[in-house]
Amino acid sequence: MISIEEIKDILSKKLTHKRFKHSLGVYETTLELSKLYKVCEQKAGIAGLLHDYAKDLSYIQVRNYIDKYSINMDKVIEEQLDLVHGYIGAELVKEELNIYDEEILNAIRYHTIGKENMSKLEKIVYLSDYIEPNRVFPGVEELRKIALSDLDKATLLALNNTISYVIESNKLIHINSILARNSLILKIDNPNNR
Ligand SMILES: [Fe+2]
Ligand SMILES: [Fe+2]
Repeated sequence: MISIEEIKDILSKKLTHKRFKHSLGVYETTLELSKLYKVCEQKAGIAGLLHDYAKDLSYIQVRNYIDKYSINMDKVIEEQLDLVHGYIGAELVKEELNIYDEEILNAIRYHTIGKENMSKLEKIVYLSDYIEPNRVFPGVEELRKIALSDLDKATLLALNNTISYVIESNKLIHINSILARNSLILKIDNPNNR
């Protein structure tokens, strides 16, 4: 398995400086949350560090990878092509870094849009992307606090904020973000599911 130092070295060349710094921040946060919620720290760290592996590709590269990997496109992703970087990232880390662990790949795959019934690891990466130390927005401190006591509630709040932003910007909401949100609400409202 590739080492964390090797991954950092690859990312420092592949990503913009700002995105590299963000990825290191997500890495730190995934380590902290995975320890807290008893998820494999190694998997969480690798997924967090690599989540934006495909974020700084050119339009042509994105188009080529969609074809190459037969990525399932829908109208919303087609209209907002940036949404596809998690799906491409999962394929690229498999092919270029030989990472085959499906839990890691799914956490990378779903970190942007979310999905129904996310695993703990998927929630940790989604949430860490939102609250890593370089993020600055009103309410981030409160959300960081909630993240330390309730993973589902914090992930729901992050989804709510993201969906509100999408609505305010008059952009399209992906159906999987709604399914992710609904499944979290049902889980939180029904303690037997927790
Ligand atoms: Fe991303
Ligand atoms: Fe990110």
